[in-house]
Amino acid sequence: MINALRKKKVEIEEAAAPAPRPEEVGKRWAIEARGIQKSFKAGQMMVDVLKGIDLLIEPGEIVLVMGPSGSGKSTLLAAVSGLMKPDLGSVVALNTNIWKMSRKKIDRFRLDNCGFIFQGFNLFPALTASQQVQIVLKFMKLKKRERKAAAEATLTDVGLGHRLNNRPDRMSGGEKQRVAIARALAKKPKLIFADEPTSALDGENGNIVMTLLRKCAKEQGATVLCVTHDARLAVFADRIITIEDGRITSTNADPALFAHHH
Ligand SMILES: Nc1ncnc2c1ncn2[C@@H]1O[C@H](COP(=O)(O)OP(=O)(O)OP(=O)(O)O)[C@@H](O)[C@H]1O
Ligand SMILES: [Mg+2]
Repeated sequence: MINALRKKKVEIEEAAAPAPRPEEVGKRWAIEARGIQKSFKAGQMMVDVLKGIDLLIEPGEIVLVMGPSGSGKSTLLAAVSGLMKPDLGSVVALNTNIWKMSRKKIDRFRLDNCGFIFQGFNLFPALTASQQVQIVLKFMKLKKRERKAAAEATLTDVGLGHRLNNRPDRMSGGEKQRVAIARALAKKPKLIFADEPTSALDGENGNIVMTLLRKCAKEQGATVLCVTHDARLAVFADRIITIEDGRITSTNADPALFAHHH
């Protein structure tokens, strides 16, 4: 009985992952997500939030996922980055089939390879800027001296060399977001996931943040997946993917379409 169920599940999973198109064969993607589906329970009803999404991202690409509020952007980011298991579909990131691994291995994969930048800064009130960044490096088995040096170097990169010892209550919104970014970047992650990284920032600080993410992609070869509904970010992307109501509507939208929002 259980075997029959398992077999059925495998069949469904395979059906949800369509054969790659000829131009995609042999290409090594940094992220290859196929047939991603996710539903949430809302009262008695199930709401389909992701309705079969394929997402293919090249190494070193900086890709924006744009779409209206509620279209499923954050849910997609969570599914692709190993934070929330989709109901169906597969995610291969850095040649690792994420959702086939144990919880523990997924956590380790994220720690080793992924940097996250979220909308809220999620900083610890009691820690200085430098300590906020060091705390992540602790898990990377860096020695104390190395952690301190790496934290200070990354904070200097984001223009906060003069704020190393400030706590969050002594920093502006833009400075706090840059600390959160330094925290994500200090370990030089191969994959960077950003969810509305500029939503709390004015235009100037937003530009600083996006310039940093571009630098990571182009100078360190990081792959950047950034979800946003901020049209001002379009100019920083290699490619814009649009999503509406849980479905991808374009995998290479023209940035000019978004330019009039400036
Ligand atoms: N854990 C959850 N439980 C139930 N419903 C959820 C959950 N997470 C998201 N949803 C629903 O899924 C839909 C898509 O949510 P999601 O956060 O992915 O949208 P979004 O595109 O990121 O929107 P925004 O631009 O406002 O951040 C929404 O209708 C939301 O209410
Ligand atoms: Mg969201």
